[in-house]
Amino acid sequence: MRVDTVGVADYDRIRVEPITGSIGAEISNVDLRDLDDEILDEIQDAWMAHKVLFFHDQDLTQQQHVDYVSWFGELEIHPFVKNVEAHPEIIVIESTPESFSAAETWHSDVTFRESPPLGSVLIGRKIPKWGGDTCFANMTLAYEMLSDAVKEEIDGMYAIHSYAKAFGTGVPAEEVEQMRKKFPDQKHPLVRTHPVTGQKSLFMARNFMLTIDGMTPDESRSLRHRLYEQSQIPELQCRFRWRQNSIAQWDNRCTQHYAVPDHGGGHRRVERVTLVGDRPV
Ligand code: SIN
Repeated sequence: MRVDTVGVADYDRIRVEPITGSIGAEISNVDLRDLDDEILDEIQDAWMAHKVLFFHDQDLTQQQHVDYVSWFGELEIHPFVKNVEAHPEIIVIESTPESFSAAETWHSDVTFRESPPLGSVLIGRKIPKWGGDTCFANMTLAYEMLSDAVKEEIDGMYAIHSYAKAFGTGVPAEEVEQMRKKFPDQKHPLVRTHPVTGQKSLFMARNFMLTIDGMTPDESRSLRHRLYEQSQIPELQCRFRWRQNSIAQWDNRCTQHYAVPDHGGGHRRVERVTLVGDRPV
């Protein structure tokens, strides 16, 4: 199938260059430390049109990173991932030769919350010489590319998302149950409607999705795996090569991402600020 869903709109202040025909645009001619309402409106429009924005050479302090993301809404504090002491809204994802950490599965962020994030803004602080790219998938297109029969089958279905699938491994059972009281499993629609664009998207996170509500374990596994395969279609993906001070800004409501763990022992440190979202419908 030939994919080209991206129209090129006119922008007066920023430069917007799509990097694929389905998702992602590089934004230039902007300094994220020096913004006004007109530039922010253009960034917002480009974000909704391309789902993931990429910026290069944005030498932001941690405070400036927080300030930039605050333009788009309320910030959330991650309950499990290591954060920066002076800026608890910033989480750190870091791999060193001694310790490896990567989000190496297709996912949307923090879907175990009742209201999962609206979006995230990740900045590259330390980038390995090779590897460590991040891939993004357009989950609106993933939904649109399903057959009518599958769309009909899944419209109105719900999946159960749990923090414990990703953050409960190796943790004593009593502690998992204790945390479950604070973060009870959540039922989210498999197909959600975007509050701004009105588009329908598949809403999934392999690292948090446990089952599909009302199905037997076998039925649920089979459907989940069929749907997980949708994110793997190259035509609905883009891949971002990081540089120090590059930024990726994604809409968590209609995309998934995957951090490719192919940088061996290379030092990779990225920092993320995440926006509070609303309850998927
Ligand atoms: C994330 O899942 O938020 C991090 C992605 C990355 O490390 O590239």
